[in-house]
Amino acid sequence: MRTKIVAGNWKMNLDRDQSIQLVNAISAALQNHDLQGNRVMVFPPFVNISAAQQASNRDLRVEVGAQNMHQAASGAYTGEVSAQMLLSNEVTTVILGHSERREYFYESDALLKEKVDAAIAHGMEVVFCFGEKLEERNTGNHFKVVEDQLKKAIFHLHEGDWEKIILAYEPVWAIGTGMTASPEQAQEMHAFIRATIAQAYSREMAEGISILYGGSVKPGNAVEIFGKPDVDGGLIGGAALQAADFIAIIKAL
Ligand code: PGA
Repeated sequence: MRTKIVAGNWKMNLDRDQSIQLVNAISAALQNHDLQGNRVMVFPPFVNISAAQQASNRDLRVEVGAQNMHQAASGAYTGEVSAQMLLSNEVTTVILGHSERREYFYESDALLKEKVDAAIAHGMEVVFCFGEKLEERNTGNHFKVVEDQLKKAIFHLHEGDWEKIILAYEPVWAIGTGMTASPEQAQEMHAFIRATIAQAYSREMAEGISILYGGSVKPGNAVEIFGKPDVDGGLIGGAALQAADFIAIIKAL
């Protein structure tokens, strides 16, 4: 179902105590705030997930997910974590396809397809990230790149599986750079994504998919970006690490 979401991708930041403090601060700020059906999620590194969950227990409105998972069920994959391990820790949402995983850990579209399938097979919800690089935008290839990323990793899913898919369009040139896409650029791409889904599946289904924008979302630009009709919230990196900024972005919904 199309809901509005603000999700904090903590990346490799915050130790255990800092994670607890941040979740406590978010929970406290949301106590008297009517989320009106919108969702708030945080994605700590694996090792701090349970601490974040415990901190959010008083206020279950802060959902805690994982930043990645392995595609195999179990086995000799040192350092990796499976879907079942996440589920057994009450983690039901996982980010897949983040550009940092694609770039630094060589995650290909084919690998991401396997990961998406493993998550869906386990009934998990996926925040699927994708987006073009600067040179791809500068050469006018951004729509093609985005369409390809979607087609190669998730367009094989059955229509029913899409209930578990949240999309996060994150132009690589906007991540951590302070160079946000303009609200118009975000809207243009989000509308394209929705049209592409409508073509592959149905207009009705496309209208039900939450499409988040990610890349240098800050309190100062969130209202304008979230105000666009095809933008259903944001995946937030840097600004998700400061309680005041993250809360301001949640309130921008
Ligand atoms: P940023 O990161 O907000 O720091 O640009 C966004 C992301 O990588 O999800």
